[in-house]
Amino acid sequence: MYLTNDEELIYNGGQGPTLQKMMEILVALGDIYGAKKLIPVKSAQIAGVSYKTIGDAGLEWISDLKGTAKVPAVLNPMGMDRTAWESMGIDKKFALKQEEIIRAYEKLGIKAECTCTPYYLERPRFGDHLAWSESSAVCFANSVLGARTNREGGPSALAAALVGKTAEYGLHIKENRYPTVTIKVKEPIHGAEYGALGYIVGPKVGDGVPIFTLKSTPSEDELKHLGAALASSGAVALFHVLDVTPEQYILPPDRMEVGKQELENEDDWKVPSRHFLPRDRIDVDPGEVKKLMSEHAEPDLIALGCPHASTQELKDIISALKGRKVKKDVWVCVGRSAAEKDAALIDEIRQSGVKVLFDTCMVVSPAANNFKRMMVNSGKALKYVPSMCGVEASIGTTEECIEEACR
Ligand code: F3S
Repeated sequence: MYLTNDEELIYNGGQGPTLQKMMEILVALGDIYGAKKLIPVKSAQIAGVSYKTIGDAGLEWISDLKGTAKVPAVLNPMGMDRTAWESMGIDKKFALKQEEIIRAYEKLGIKAECTCTPYYLERPRFGDHLAWSESSAVCFANSVLGARTNREGGPSALAAALVGKTAEYGLHIKENRYPTVTIKVKEPIHGAEYGALGYIVGPKVGDGVPIFTLKSTPSEDELKHLGAALASSGAVALFHVLDVTPEQYILPPDRMEVGKQELENEDDWKVPSRHFLPRDRIDVDPGEVKKLMSEHAEPDLIALGCPHASTQELKDIISALKGRKVKKDVWVCVGRSAAEKDAALIDEIRQSGVKVLFDTCMVVSPAANNFKRMMVNSGKALKYVPSMCGVEASIGTTEECIEEACR
C-alpha cells in the first residue's frame, strides 16, 4: 500500500509507539483487503467499550495508548448508565472498571458519548468517509445517509480516530456498493416488522448488498431497524431500498451504461435503473414476518431503544403509554447528548415508571443478564439478547411491548 512521507514517518515510529501501532493496524488491514492508499475520515465511532465485553485485557490495551484523536470520535454503548448505574443494579467493582475504560478513552481525546446512533449527534453527509464500528450505525450511515464506512473493529476504528485516516477498501469504493441481490416483499409492513424482516433476511444475504422492493415506504426509524437486524443476523453493512435510500439507483457492474462516468454527486446516483435490479432474488413471505412477531412468552423485562431511540420513537412510546403506569420493568435506551433535547419527553416517560437509560443498552449491560425473558421491538436485540445475555427474547411492536408492560 502506498504511504505518503508523513504516513511512512508514523509507520516507522517517528511519532511515537502508539501512532506507530495504530498505523500498523491500518496498513495490515489495507494489505489484507488490497487497499492502494489511506484516505481521510470525517469521524470515528469506536466499539469495545463495555467492561462486560472487553474485560481487563481490553482495559489494559487502551490504558497503554497515548495520543489524541485527529477527528471527532465517540464510543459505542458501555455496560451501564454512567450516572445511574446503581439504580440498574450494577455492582461497584464493575462500575469502577467501566469508569476506568471511559477515562482511558477520554485521555485519547475521544468523547465519552456512548451511543450506537452517532448520526443523531452529527449527521454525516452523502459521500463522507467514516470509520465507524457499531454494525447498526455502519448500516445506517452507508444505506440511509449514503456515507461510506466499513464495519470497523474496535482497534481499527480507534486507529482511524488517532491517525485521522483509514485504508481505502470495501465500502469506501463505489463499485463495492452495487446491490448484489433483490429482496422482494409482497405485502406492506410497518414498525417493528422491519426489524423482523431484517432478522429473517440477514442470514440469507450474508455479507451481500441487498436491494429491497417494498409495498410500503419505510420511515427513517424503520430503515434503522431493518439495517440493525440485517447487520446482526447477517453481516450486511449496506442495503438499498428502491425509491427510498439515496443510492437505490446504482447499477450492478455488468449494467454500467451510466456508471462509466464518475458518479460523485448525490443526484448522479439517481439514475432510474429499476430494470437493472440484480437477478439473484429472494421473495420474502410476509407470513414469516407475522409469525416471528406473534411468538410471545410472558417477559419480565421490556427493553426498547435498540438502536438508541430517536425523538419520534420516544413520542411513540408516550402515545402507547397513554399516561399509564407500567407494572413490569421497562427500559428505554437513549444516547445521553441526543436525549438532552428530548428532556421533556424523557421526563414524561419516566413518570410512567419506565427507566430511561443513557450510555448503555439491554445487550452490553450485565444488568440485563438478571432477567429471564425479554420483550423487545428490535430485530437486532432479538438476535443478540439470547447469545449475549443468556436471556430468552421475543419481538413485538412498540404498542404490544407497552401493553405487555401495563398488563
Ligand atoms: Fe445499540 Fe445495543 Fe442495540 S449497541 S444497536 S442498543 S445492541
